[in-house]
Amino acid sequence: MARLAGVAALSLVLVLLGAGVPRPPAAAAAKTQVFLSKLPKALVVGVSPKHGEVVHAGENTVTVTWSLNTSEPAGADAAFKSVKVKLCYAPASRTDRGWRKASDDLHKDKACQFKVTVQPYAAGAGRFDYVVARDIPTASYFVRAYAVDASGTEVAYGQSSPDAAFDVAGITGIHASLKVAAGVFSTFSIAALAFFFVVEKRKKDK
Ligand SMILES: *[C@@H]1O[C@H](CO)[C@@H](O)[C@H](O)[C@H]1NC(C)=O
Repeated sequence: MARLAGVAALSLVLVLLGAGVPRPPAAAAAKTQVFLSKLPKALVVGVSPKHGEVVHAGENTVTVTWSLNTSEPAGADAAFKSVKVKLCYAPASRTDRGWRKASDDLHKDKACQFKVTVQPYAAGAGRFDYVVARDIPTASYFVRAYAVDASGTEVAYGQSSPDAAFDVAGITGIHASLKVAAGVFSTFSIAALAFFFVVEKRKKDK
């Protein structure tokens, strides 16, 4: 009898454990393959720097604007949930650099590697002030915006003209380490000043 109760208890535990195990999702949500050439160019995208203008990484701001092309039919943006903005290497900065290669397949594209922002899509237009990130390398760039639907899939796009690219002056290794060194030394000198001040004061007080 005791043994039977034991078996019953054990199977109850197993059932409870089994219920707690999460089931694998019916189909692991594979990212939809998207080709740029298949997307409607429904967004009109603008950037503040003019062609050839130089902006400094970590310092300057690039203002990006986007709006639905007025020649699009009404409701063309019904599925737009958000706008994803990317910074893209201009063609001149891609030549002979496989790691910046553009691809029609968005998941393989390496030309638009840098995320600028993701904003909810508001009918009409949007705008974002982007302070160029410190890790953006020196190169020519243009900006691309994707309209993204509720499932996170790109459904339309627009971009500033790759032929009217602007330039980013990146923070080079030397530049960055000099800044760090300067920072360390100025902190050190203030600390040293404080230290000797205290030492002198103690001497006087004695
Ligand atoms: C809007 O779309 C039309 C038709 O596709 C195109 O000719 C026009 O250049 C676009 N306007 C802008 C500002 O991109």
